[in-house]
Amino acid sequence: MYKDIDILAVDDDPTNLDIIQEIFSDDYSLETADCGEATLEILGRIRPSVILLDIMMPGIDGYEVCREIRKNPNHNLAKVILVSGKAIPEERLLGYQAGADDYVCKPFYADEFLEKVKVHLKLVDAEKKLFTLNEQLQAQVDAQREKLMQSEKMASLGQLAAGVAHEINNPTGFIMSNLRTLADYVDVLCKAVKLADDISAPIEDNIGHISEVIDKIQELKKSQDINYIIDDASELTHESIDGTQRIKEIVQGLKSFARVDEAEIQEADINEGIEQTLKMVWNEVKYHCEVKKELNPLPKMRCYPRQLNQVVMNLVVNAAHAIPEKGTITIKSELVDSNIVIQISDTGKGIKEENISKLFDPFFTTKPVGQGTGLGLSISYGIVQKHSGDIDVKSKVGEGTTFIITLPLDGVKENEGNNEQAAIC
Ligand SMILES: Nc1ncnc2c1ncn2[C@@H]1O[C@H](COP(=O)(O)OP(=O)(O)OP(=O)(O)O)[C@@H](O)[C@H]1O
Ligand SMILES: [Mg+2]
Repeated sequence: MYKDIDILAVDDDPTNLDIIQEIFSDDYSLETADCGEATLEILGRIRPSVILLDIMMPGIDGYEVCREIRKNPNHNLAKVILVSGKAIPEERLLGYQAGADDYVCKPFYADEFLEKVKVHLKLVDAEKKLFTLNEQLQAQVDAQREKLMQSEKMASLGQLAAGVAHEINNPTGFIMSNLRTLADYVDVLCKAVKLADDISAPIEDNIGHISEVIDKIQELKKSQDINYIIDDASELTHESIDGTQRIKEIVQGLKSFARVDEAEIQEADINEGIEQTLKMVWNEVKYHCEVKKELNPLPKMRCYPRQLNQVVMNLVVNAAHAIPEKGTITIKSELVDSNIVIQISDTGKGIKEENISKLFDPFFTTKPVGQGTGLGLSISYGIVQKHSGDIDVKSKVGEGTTFIITLPLDGVKENEGNNEQAAIC
């Protein structure tokens, strides 16, 4: 902790220090030092607003002390006034070059000296106020920025939550309605099974009993369309299974989004990852797509390889889905400056201009209900961002699409940005 004082006077001649004390000590707090070394030592404890600095001293001279003061951020507001017997312009120039603010010649004219120091003290005072104001303003700006970031985060979380609610609400709705209908069907079918049981039960008056049961069966058949119930029950069951499958996919997508099953950072060969991923999606592409690979040699890169594989997988599957009949998917990798650039192109149907800006929004999909969750690209975007990279898209309707991923080699930092997204799920 520094003690703030008004003036530090430095001179190897005690008479000069006495005169300075006489001029200033009545009105200002003042300390003295008799050499350069002592000055630097004392400046470790006190913070003077003005330093009156003799130039010619044994040991470290005034210029050197001045340079040291200027290097020290704790004294960046202090005004240094060089005090010297020599008034030649070269000497003054040296002083200003060393960082001095002003110059006073010995012997000094006390009143003028006092006024000069007063001006500098006022200046320091004003600068201190400005500095404090600036710090307060900066703190306010930082607080506002933090607030804004927080609210943006909350807004995107809210958007995500609303999307999840909407997407899950739909299948949940029809699954519930199906289950209610199925419950009624089960009642009817139970009754039918019971009647069938009754017919086969060994009862004495068999004829009377059978005709009674047959009447009941006729009644049941009249009131319920058993054949329809059997067909519809099967359809409702399959529809409900599809619905639960959709919910499962959404939850799985969200888990990836939150990166719950995060793997370790590794030094990985991106080309190897592309090859592995292609094997995984081969079934999806092999019938209607020709896959061209232009994989150029790449240095290993620190990354989350499983996540990058997931990005490639999403993009290749999207490309395959965009090709209605026959087409080509080209996967290119190369090193450009210190970035790994992966391009995945297809000769598919392309993307409409108005959809380009929505592609990376969670749940944006043009696929029919049940075929796409619309999470693939938003998950990919998050993963690429986590690697400090960029993902860009170029597309022409009817001609095809290219996604370009740029990954800086040193993009991923240890322990980076995991926790906050993990909180989503
Ligand atoms: N290569 C492409 N060509 C044409 N359209 C594309 C391409 N890639 C993505 N799209 C469009 O972007 C939309 C969003 O893609 P995204 O991968 O996020 O979701 P999805 O494929 O619809 O569903 P899923 O969650 O199963 O991946 C797609 O529905 C499609 O309209
Ligand atoms: Mg997709």
